[in-house]
Amino acid sequence: DSLAAIVEPLLEWYGRNARSLPWREEPAPYRVWVSEIMLQQTRAEAVKPYFARFLTELPDVPALASAPEQQLMKLWEGLGYYSRARNLQKAARVMVEQYGGTLPADYDALLKLPGIGPYTAGAVASIAYGIPVPAVDGNVLRVVMRLTAGWEDIADPAVKRAVERRMAEILPKDRPGDFNQAMMELGATVCAPGGEPKCLVCPLNALCEGYRQGIARELPVKAKK
Ligand code: ADE
Repeated sequence: DSLAAIVEPLLEWYGRNARSLPWREEPAPYRVWVSEIMLQQTRAEAVKPYFARFLTELPDVPALASAPEQQLMKLWEGLGYYSRARNLQKAARVMVEQYGGTLPADYDALLKLPGIGPYTAGAVASIAYGIPVPAVDGNVLRVVMRLTAGWEDIADPAVKRAVERRMAEILPKDRPGDFNQAMMELGATVCAPGGEPKCLVCPLNALCEGYRQGIARELPVKAKK
């Protein structure tokens, strides 16, 4: 698989360019989970103050499980998509009842919890527990479609599954969390959506078929719902 060639330069780039973020400096499972849910709708810079306040008021799974609805909604005010906060609490209650008040260190167990889909399960499992599973979000889909000059519709679940399989194949078993975050980070800061991707400073430009063909900015294709 020619995509395997991206692993080394990507990790090297990430080591030099990773933004310092509170949940990265201390990747405890609860912190990684809360941050990933917040990051689904909001940029990292904007998440920081919400994350800090949330962790101060609800520092662990039991605190979240027993938080009054009003406190939870207040902590989420401004982030939007309140169902995410409600699911966070529902999942915390399951963790208290079934897992001793912690996040299960198991991809399939995580996947069964309210509000946790394949992406979030992969992010928590790999970043917090070092479990070698992929975490494919919109950033990763964009990076892979550009790298491979792929015109497939990324709204197609089969396309997403295929990307997850390819990522699983090349994922370095000793650094799954760094690899997944490096892909996201590249997609957020270099291989970004909208406008021109910063191909000239991309650590993967020599390996990128989209760049070689001059079509990186036209990808990915996403069918309208
Ligand atoms: N977007 C969502 N989660 C992220 C992470 N862990 N690193 C970089 N970008 C992200």
